Parts: sequence; structure tokens; C-alpha cells
Amino acid sequence: MDNRPIGFLDSGVGGLTVVKELMRQLPDEEVVYIGDSRRAPYGPRPSSQIRQFTWELVNFLLSKNVKLIVFACNTATAVAWEEVKKELDIPVLGVILPGASAAIKATNNGHIGIIGTAMTVKSDIYRQKVQLLSPDLQVMSLACPKFVPLVESNESASSVAKKVVYETLKPMVNQVDTLILGCTHYPLLRPIIQNVMGQTVKLIDSGAECVRDISVLLNYFEINRERTTLSKRHQFFTTASSQAFDDIAQSWLNIPIKSRTIRL
Ligand code: DGL
Repeated sequence: MDNRPIGFLDSGVGGLTVVKELMRQLPDEEVVYIGDSRRAPYGPRPSSQIRQFTWELVNFLLSKNVKLIVFACNTATAVAWEEVKKELDIPVLGVILPGASAAIKATNNGHIGIIGTAMTVKSDIYRQKVQLLSPDLQVMSLACPKFVPLVESNESASSVAKKVVYETLKPMVNQVDTLILGCTHYPLLRPIIQNVMGQTVKLIDSGAECVRDISVLLNYFEINRERTTLSKRHQFFTTASSQAFDDIAQSWLNIPIKSRTIRL
């Protein structure tokens, strides 16, 4: 047993999609979340800068005495996960392998799509992971740089969002039977993405898939949180406006949130 919290990092509010799934699957666990909304999006930035920002988020989480760190960000996973996990003596999980494995399981016709930030798509990591496990599968990738700013500005359900998603996803429509949402912000746009892609296309939420891996790790290392009568004290931190963060977090998680703004 280990009653310390689990740390989650993201460039902004996207990682909350992973936290939501954690709260559903592992309700006894306590969360420390840091979202770097002031510097989002990470996707168009050079990898050296993404690496540096990711380390700052990791060090912040370590200062909160977490037992496990989840990279609830595909971009940070693509750029810095290998490096960070080698350096830390606590487990570090990313979202890419769980998403790739789930897509392999889901596809019927062998055509998988992946949408993500410019950096995630440029890194080619999803295609590599999918084809490493299943070389015959076809993978088509598409960068969607306009999606993260829509989510960060709480416009996920707006008519602008519908137009942007429709225009951006055009090349992917009718090409795949399975689509990996390779950015943790994208599940907030899920109804629109599903509409544009068609109801039969299976959408893979890589963040949600990673919660199954968290569960396996907690069991393996025997570091689950004790089921206590003490109430949990989730902590949420943002590098931008706490009000803006709380608005999105509350409507997504359906619980009261009082985040704190920090400077890294
Ligand atoms: N949630 C991040 C991801 O999964 C978004 C990255 C960004 O800020 O561009 O990649």
C-alpha cells in the first residue's frame, strides 16, 4: 500500500481526460495535476523546449511527493518520456503505447488513423509502435494544430469547433475504421470528431486506455492507495488562470475544483 498521490502532467487541460477516467476506474486514488496552459500548445514548439518544459512539470510533481507520474500528454510522451523514465526511481507512464495497443485490438480492416499535434505526428511514434507490434497494419497520420487552442479556450462545443474539425479531418474521412485520438485534449471534441468521421469509426482515447496500465502498475508494485475513511484531497495546479482552468475542469469532471496558479 502507498497512500501518496499519482501525479499527472499536461501542457494544459487535456490531461483531465485521463484524470476523469482514473476517477472512474480507480476512485480510491488521489491526484496531483499540473497543466501548463500558459505555455500551451506544446505541439508547434521545438523538441528541446518541450523537453525542458516537461522536466519542469516532472520536478514540480516530484516536489509533491507523488508515487507515480503519468504523462497525460502525447506530445510530452513522444519527446521526453523515454528520457525521464530512465532518470526517475518511481514508475513513469505515457499514453502512446496504450493507445497503439488498443487501436490494434479495435481495427477490423487494418486501416488505423492517428490524429495529434504537429510534434506527435512528426515524431511518427504511433506508426512505429503500431507497426512494431503489427507490421501489416496501415497507419495514416494527420496533425490537427487548431484543436488544442479550441479546447484551451473552452470552445469545444462551439460552431467554430464544428467547422474546424470538419475542415481538418476531411483527408481522414472514409480512410480508416479506427482513429486514435493521439492528443489528450481531443476527447473533449469527441462528439464532433465522431460525427465527422461517421458513427461506425472506432475512436481510441489513448489517455483513457492508459488508466488500465496505471491499474496494472499499482497492482504489480503493490502501491494502491488504502481504502480509508479519510477524504481524498485532489490538487490541481495550472500555470495560467485558475478560473479558466476550473471552468473547464468542473464541467468535465463534474466535481467542484479549486485549482491554484503556480509559476514554474
Ligand atoms: N494534450 C497534449 C497532447 O496530448 C497537447 C499538446 C499541446 O499542447 O500541443 O499532446
